[in-house]
Amino acid sequence: MSGNVRRLRRTSWRSAVSLGGVSSRRARTLPFLRSLARHARTPVHAFEEASRRAGGELVRLNMGPFRPYLVTHPEHVQHVLKTNQPNYVRAGMFWDPLAPLLGQGILSEGEGWAASRKILQPVFTARYVNSLAGHMAQIITGLIDVTLVPGRRFDIGELISTLIHPTIVRLFLGATISDEDIGRLAPAYDTGVTARSLRLLLPSVPERFPLPGDRAFKRAIRTIDEVVYPRIQYAKTRREEDADLVSRLVRARPGEADADRLIRDDMVAIHGAATETSVTALTWVWPVLDAHPKIAARVYEEVDRVVGRGPVTVAHLQDLTYLKMFVDELVRLYPPGWILPRTAARADHIDGIEIPAGATMVLSPYLTHRLPEFWDRALEFDPERFAPGNDRARHRYAYFPFAAGPHVCLGPHLFMMEALLLIAGILCKYRPLLHTTGPITPRLASTLRPPKGLSMTLVPAGAA
Ligand code: HEM
Repeated sequence: MSGNVRRLRRTSWRSAVSLGGVSSRRARTLPFLRSLARHARTPVHAFEEASRRAGGELVRLNMGPFRPYLVTHPEHVQHVLKTNQPNYVRAGMFWDPLAPLLGQGILSEGEGWAASRKILQPVFTARYVNSLAGHMAQIITGLIDVTLVPGRRFDIGELISTLIHPTIVRLFLGATISDEDIGRLAPAYDTGVTARSLRLLLPSVPERFPLPGDRAFKRAIRTIDEVVYPRIQYAKTRREEDADLVSRLVRARPGEADADRLIRDDMVAIHGAATETSVTALTWVWPVLDAHPKIAARVYEEVDRVVGRGPVTVAHLQDLTYLKMFVDELVRLYPPGWILPRTAARADHIDGIEIPAGATMVLSPYLTHRLPEFWDRALEFDPERFAPGNDRARHRYAYFPFAAGPHVCLGPHLFMMEALLLIAGILCKYRPLLHTTGPITPRLASTLRPPKGLSMTLVPAGAA
């Protein structure tokens, strides 16, 4: 253990770090390329190893010419996301390659982001999201009815995407969107966020050097635009009270120059932020239930007691308290947004370590959520951590699956509603039988996905 971390453990979190302090040291550098080569098939282990070796200290990862800072300690996370947030911008690694898809609105930085946030924050109130709940419940239960066939083997990722994707599209882009357009959007988004994986990790390769995936990425953007722009035109002809998101955004930008492009950018960014993360999180549910039979039994008991044989409705949600704790714990150990990269706009100091202007800072909820210094039995899946009152002793920034500070996610409430409706909607009718056994290693993509090809069969709940 480094002296720095020993000091962090001895003293209180607040007093331990001299953020912005004057004494300056260089960060220790860990040989990350070698570690990546050793864990070529499971790169998540290379990140876990780096975090173990860092032990909460701010370190650099040696990736050849590219040496990002790994930020895991909650105090340091707080500094980057909140205290000195304007200095840590969403640019460079991860963000620049995706900018042509996400545009210049809510998932960008600076004035474009601020203008979109000002419009969207009051839209995503608990009241608005609750007003969508009934419609969401109807869509999800309808999709469960037509999609799930007892006894058939399902690829879990595909199944969850088949349920979540149309739900989000109909809520955001309007109930009248055609099945054909919904069918075009899902693969285009998937390509959009995966085609540039190489560029996400190699931000120093200039755009003028073509890399595999670039052309597929451009095609995906064309397809998305072909669906989204007509929906904006359609929303302009609709009635005042339409509650879908595109209608709300059209009303929020009356007569603004370039309004169509700005609305398109926000629609595409929010859609991406909402579906990719939700699908990933809800794909993890099934291997986790399978791996923890006692916890699964409590979840099943609660769903049976509260929802019976269904259908699940909004009225059931408030009584699904254990399921909610289960979902909170799910996104602790498997946070879809496993990496949050930032670029330092100006030089800074964190805990006495100098951060040069232009440095890449890699924050990772995945790693912070697993720090033994901040989590008792950190690797054990235990929903009880989220029982009311159990979070009192926890550092506020030890848990940040939805980020924090000015860029905090707008969707946690929507996600929780969607998660409870989908999980309880399936479990009130079926029990899952997984076809994979043994430990399941996360796969690093733009989100933290389970391995490809996980499959399950659903059997009627009474028969399991
Ligand atoms: C499991 C589900 C979700 C997770 C884990 C998640 C996580 C995150 C994270 C980590 C960020 C910050 C990204 C960054 O700045 O680096 C973020 C931002 C955002 N999320 Fe979510 N999200 C989820 C669902 C949703 C949903 C359902 C919506 C729909 C409204 C949504 C909308 C957004 C938006 C608009 C932002 C950008 C906020 C801003 O920069 O001002 N997210 N989300």
